Amino acid sequence: MKTYQSVVQGETLKTDGLVHVEAQPLPAIQPGQYFRTFAPASTQVLPVALFPFSRTAETLTLCDTFSTAVKPGDSLLLQGPCGRGFEEALKGRHLVLFAAVSALENHLHYLMQAALQSGADVAWVCETRSLPLPPQVELLKPAELHDAIAWADACATALPLHEIPTLFAGMRLSSAEASKFEVLIETPLACGNARCGVCSVQTKKGWQLACKDGPVFRLGELQYE
Ligand code: FES
Repeated sequence: MKTYQSVVQGETLKTDGLVHVEAQPLPAIQPGQYFRTFAPASTQVLPVALFPFSRTAETLTLCDTFSTAVKPGDSLLLQGPCGRGFEEALKGRHLVLFAAVSALENHLHYLMQAALQSGADVAWVCETRSLPLPPQVELLKPAELHDAIAWADACATALPLHEIPTLFAGMRLSSAEASKFEVLIETPLACGNARCGVCSVQTKKGWQLACKDGPVFRLGELQYE
């Protein structure tokens, strides 16, 4: 696993949960993967998992709560990319992004960007949108989700682990509908390298680790009922 030196840019830290960094070279990362991030100048002990939000030729924007105080100009070490990201969703030509939890919609943004760049049609389903979205993204309400799933060849969402049973049991998906979903599971990634076990997820193949085997899982792999 590589470690990249990066420098924090901009003034928006903590206000929108985004951290803008520049690095040479800018590391490649797939949607749904994450970096174990260290701020060498801080008192931080454990790494923080930061997920990609967007990228330009020079800048990578990462998201999640960075509890350690970092400011523009600080250096960050990005170790990774870690884990398994979205795979089927990246192949989809008709992609539904279900932002079921608004606090996690940042985690779907980079997937949206990658899907649009590959020429896919994207629908974004949410109750309340807080992110600006490109005009070519179709905005839908949760009441339209079943129709959107029927249109889609791939669906993706990001959810806290404990909300998966309630949400998907309540949606009463057919097995054909469920098979289209990949889920980015939001759970503490305390060590981020398969040492502590706090990110354990029950799957049909037994317990797996979100930090190594995920954090993206196919819905059909999960034991959530
Ligand atoms: S975060 Fe420690 S084992 Fe996954």
